[in-house]
Amino acid sequence: MRTDLEKVDTWEDLREWHEDPERGRVACRLEGEVFPFAWKPPDPLTLLDEARHHPKARILRQSPGETFDPTADASEAIRALPVEKVAQEPHLHLSIFDLSDLCQPGRALHPLSEAVFRPFERLCADRGIRWEGGFWPILFIGGSASATNYHIDPTPNAIFHLFGEKRFHSLKEPDRWCPQTVKDAYTKDKKLAVRPPGIGEEDCLVHDNAPGDLVWIPQLSPHWVDAGSLSATITFAFRQFRFA
Ligand SMILES: [Fe+2]
Repeated sequence: MRTDLEKVDTWEDLREWHEDPERGRVACRLEGEVFPFAWKPPDPLTLLDEARHHPKARILRQSPGETFDPTADASEAIRALPVEKVAQEPHLHLSIFDLSDLCQPGRALHPLSEAVFRPFERLCADRGIRWEGGFWPILFIGGSASATNYHIDPTPNAIFHLFGEKRFHSLKEPDRWCPQTVKDAYTKDKKLAVRPPGIGEEDCLVHDNAPGDLVWIPQLSPHWVDAGSLSATITFAFRQFRFA
């Protein structure tokens, strides 16, 4: 297991990290009092089956490449297969951006909602974090050879790893590789960021995710993820993140 990410394990450290003009642009791991929850991972096949039949699921096939391809729809094929076969689809890339149904009693994410989502929302609010809109967990399930290719996100995200193998990559100098013009094109014109040539291993901060890990990714900071098995994560996205 490899990690190049620094650990942030107190709320005071997180505030300092976020407010530091340089460190605040770089990914880190959140642990200790920032994410102190006991929980059990959901059953992978139950979660996968409920997720693929969710009416708002975005179901794609994604292979490693230079950018994310939101047009590679595979929803009909994935919904028609037995769930055991879906679990073996190497390039499966399934996302659900509204988990309210799956968090209801009896559904696959209800235990996790009670053990982690709601307590984390309360803890963040109690410790002075503010955001716009609702607390926003998003589900991502990836196949064994799937990838979430190089991209930037409009919000800072905390990525909670549920099960499986996923290698996360971020950059030591994100703003060197992703200038303001690329960020503006993304935020104003929805133009996806493309991995620029020249990024080497020495420019990256790598983290091998284990269940329970929480990786913090600053807003508009490039990152990409390669799966090593069927895996699932929850992304907590914070719109207009700030400390009170
Ligand atoms: Fe992302």
